[in-house]
Amino acid sequence: MQFQGLIFGVPKEIMPGERRVAATPESVKKFVDGGAQVLVEAGGGLGSFFSDAEYEAAGATVVANVEELFQKSHVILKVKEPLFNNEVGKHEVDMMQPGQVLITFLHPAAPANHEMIKNLTAKGVTALTLDGIPRISRAQAMDALTSMSTVAGYKAALMAANRLPKFVPMIGTAVGMIPPATVTVIGAGVAGLQAIATAKRLGAVVNAIDIRPEAAEHAKSLGAKIVETGIPAEIAIGEGGYAKSLPQEWVLKEQEAIFDTVVKSDVVIATALVPGRMAPILITEEMVKAMRPGSAIVDVSIDQGGNCELTVGGKVIEKYGVSIDGTKNIPGMVPSSSTTMFAKNIFNYVSNLIKDGKVNIDLDDEIIASSLVCKDGELVHAGTREALGLN
Ligand code: NAI
Repeated sequence: MQFQGLIFGVPKEIMPGERRVAATPESVKKFVDGGAQVLVEAGGGLGSFFSDAEYEAAGATVVANVEELFQKSHVILKVKEPLFNNEVGKHEVDMMQPGQVLITFLHPAAPANHEMIKNLTAKGVTALTLDGIPRISRAQAMDALTSMSTVAGYKAALMAANRLPKFVPMIGTAVGMIPPATVTVIGAGVAGLQAIATAKRLGAVVNAIDIRPEAAEHAKSLGAKIVETGIPAEIAIGEGGYAKSLPQEWVLKEQEAIFDTVVKSDVVIATALVPGRMAPILITEEMVKAMRPGSAIVDVSIDQGGNCELTVGGKVIEKYGVSIDGTKNIPGMVPSSSTTMFAKNIFNYVSNLIKDGKVNIDLDDEIIASSLVCKDGELVHAGTREALGLN
């Protein structure tokens, strides 16, 4: 059997406010049916409304002591990077064993994680990061980043609508017709397209802005009006059809092109990003100043610094009467759906990684090669090596 002889450990997530967990009772059952033993930390699923009893019924062993869970498991499944566990008084890396496999979102190139990544490497852990999964068709069912962006785009539209002091749809009333709100979505990738679809369902008039003509086409098919950015395709598009990071002069041109649309919007949802780069600043202080008081910005790309120059990470602020939402970890606000999708993604990833009860780090497999961070004491992740000046 595929997972015969392997012990999987699913600790409770310890990042403040994190409600997701890496396995559901449904995914536990699939691991167990494949011959694995699964250890789930007591209360680990409660944030996503899965009880210990449900995990036990699916075949898991519920473990109260997380140090024991880390010690006994061959493979650790998590959502967020290892952190210091205040309850135990130890860092999660220090609870891990040489040769153990860790699968989670590590964001290894981010400066805040460098120390932890060095420690994981020194410990001899085999660490695989889900944010390294390439966007190729074979990997789609494993792509947790895409799943989480889907959740973030949906929820961002609801967060903005909720904060708005007016109706989103057009509503006919006895005192006359009330016009719909205007929502502008910047960046029509995974998160942006879901924000567009959600805003349309709410009845808004929706504008979309993207420098990739293909993304703009998708947005149009969802019913959004496309706002021209004035960026020529050869400057906007790089290898593999992805957006390129724009030189500053073109960013200024784009700001100029979108100025009127942004300031006339009731809601702006910002998701513009070039993978591996800081998010471009597309909403300036001047634009925020010119927006109507009561308008709402949700800056989804905040983990990469944000698309609005006034956004404060992890906070909702008000500037010139406009609310600017810099909530990090938006998927954690929709824990049942996020956990259900995440658990399926990680199960599919593990299924590709493990053959006949053996973890097979096959570097000829693009999915594994691009998600491997460290193994046998060596840091192999290219983006992290570059960020640390090791190349
Ligand atoms: P994506 O790569 O699918 O989409 C980004 C889009 O931005 C692309 O279509 C790209 O062409 C466009 N873009 C790049 N530069 C642009 C520019 N100058 N002007 C207009 N458009 C531009 O990325 P995805 O998966 O949709 O994620 C978007 C952002 O949302 C990322 O920053 C991601 O980290 C973030 N995110 C945040 C979460 C949160 O909780 N805050 C949760 C999930 C994702």
